[in-house]
Amino acid sequence: MRKPIGVFDSGVGGLTVVKELINHMPSEDIVYFGDTARVPYGIKSKETIIRFSIENILFLLKHEVKLICVACNTVSSMALPVIMNHFRVPIVGVIAPGAREAVYATANKHIGVIGTKGTVKSRAYESEIKALDASVKVTAMSCPLFVPFVEEGWLDGPVVEEVAAKYLLPLKQADVDTVILGCTHYPLLKNVIKKVLGKDVCLIDSAKQVAIEVKNILSTRGALNKSGKGSRKFYVSDNPEWFSGLAKRFLGSLPADIKKVNNV
Ligand code: DGL
Repeated sequence: MRKPIGVFDSGVGGLTVVKELINHMPSEDIVYFGDTARVPYGIKSKETIIRFSIENILFLLKHEVKLICVACNTVSSMALPVIMNHFRVPIVGVIAPGAREAVYATANKHIGVIGTKGTVKSRAYESEIKALDASVKVTAMSCPLFVPFVEEGWLDGPVVEEVAAKYLLPLKQADVDTVILGCTHYPLLKNVIKKVLGKDVCLIDSAKQVAIEVKNILSTRGALNKSGKGSRKFYVSDNPEWFSGLAKRFLGSLPADIKKVNNV
């Protein structure tokens, strides 16, 4: 039987991961859930994030997904170990693939991490990086205004640049040569971040690495769809219009099939 890949995020940002999944596995069916009624996750407690994540996974399991991709940095950093113990379905988060790529990329062994307050507080990227190479130094900063900027479509301009300069100053002072964009929304601010940090700093967007990891897992299990065009279904817990208004910015195209669900 042909089973879909399940993907969830707190809202619309996880579509950056969906875009890469489609690029790498165009024949796969994808079911996406964006928890738009409860976004943002980045400021919520660990207990709440774990509870929401379990509910989101139970929803995706109703669609008989063969693998779940946690396309949210906050969930991946705060809840992944707990939810992986809870379910038998393979679950892939965004932290390990991003950390691996950053450790591979850094030459001066000093990596910067930016993300939501929850992601930075969890120190999940730092633990993953240190487990790969204990000699790497990590400087992390939360950038809470970046998510609303992206959702408002403010992807450049003097206001965004000034805020970015303030947030990123500690990373600049620490002389990091690699920065993990540890939030679904931040890849859309790549140009501003590059302008502030300088063109020699390598920016890591883990979405591509996540897609490669998902493909490897499915291939090892003999569960990869190799033919036909995959279908895409999108579910949200609130207001499909809000979601579709922003989706193109993250996905690159407009999702056709968006449904609101009431009881996640
Ligand atoms: N998706 C979240 C993340 O990647 C950002 C938005 C939120 O705070 O819910 O951390």
